[in-house]
Amino acid sequence: MAIAALRDEVEALAPWFHNIDLGNGIRTAPDHFLGDYPQFKFDRFADALPADLTGRSVLDIGCNAGFYSVEMKRRGASRVLGIDADDRYLAQARLVTRELGFEGVEFAKLDVYDVGALQEKFDLVVFMGVLYHLRHPLLALDLIREHVVGEDGLMLFQTMQQGSNAQMDVPEDHPFYEPETFTPPRYFDDPAYPKMHFIERRFSGDWTNWWAPNRACSEAMLRAAGFAVEARPENDVYLCRAAPVPYGEWGPTAVYPARGAAA
Ligand SMILES: C[S@@+](CC[C@H](N)C(=O)[O-])C[C@H]1O[C@@H](n2cnc3c(N)ncnc32)[C@H](O)[C@@H]1O
Repeated sequence: MAIAALRDEVEALAPWFHNIDLGNGIRTAPDHFLGDYPQFKFDRFADALPADLTGRSVLDIGCNAGFYSVEMKRRGASRVLGIDADDRYLAQARLVTRELGFEGVEFAKLDVYDVGALQEKFDLVVFMGVLYHLRHPLLALDLIREHVVGEDGLMLFQTMQQGSNAQMDVPEDHPFYEPETFTPPRYFDDPAYPKMHFIERRFSGDWTNWWAPNRACSEAMLRAAGFAVEARPENDVYLCRAAPVPYGEWGPTAVYPARGAAA
């Protein structure tokens, strides 16, 4: 495609959240407010991922313009599927893979809450930058764990985090009448206690930012959904592996009450 026509096509699909180098001096978001995003972020944790994904399958949830989908394909993944709830981002992703010659990467419009419809498990699930945009974040993690992470599968996870990075030993139980439970400096008011800040209005001008967990809460939610954190290559990036779902012995309706019995 002629350079000018490609430039027009890129412009017609703006605004872009992923700055991707399409060659010939064309970058999709050269003036990104974060800089060369997500390349500079990926550079910080890329080594934590398997360098060779030959024969592996990857699901990129909230794929946006496909940066991570392309990177996983570069590592040899046999199947890469990117899903997103927004048609505009999917159109960007298709343009990117066409221009970069990665047409083998597939994209589909699918909400994270509907991943069960895929009826497929993946070796690696990429779930970056989506959790805090969801009104029901723990439900999304539960659904991902149950429906699309393979038995020994990995999940690359990132969330916006706010508050303390400290960790504390959380007690097995919180006795109802123990006053210290609710009183500083113990438990709930301790900055290291797992907490998710609810953003009723906007964060950074964006009303789709609903939640900001602290680090302890990110890790606690991952554990509660059945993920073991294997590495934290960046403050807000976690490489997790499928682990037993706590309380699993109570059956799926106890763990997933928001949607009733599992399919
Ligand atoms: C902040 S961007 C992150 C993009 C990319 N994963 C990254 O880390 O650079 C959030 C993406 O998640 C998508 N998204 C938001 N809510 C979603 C949902 N319920 N189901 C699927 N995708 C969703 C948005 O359309 C957007 O592309």
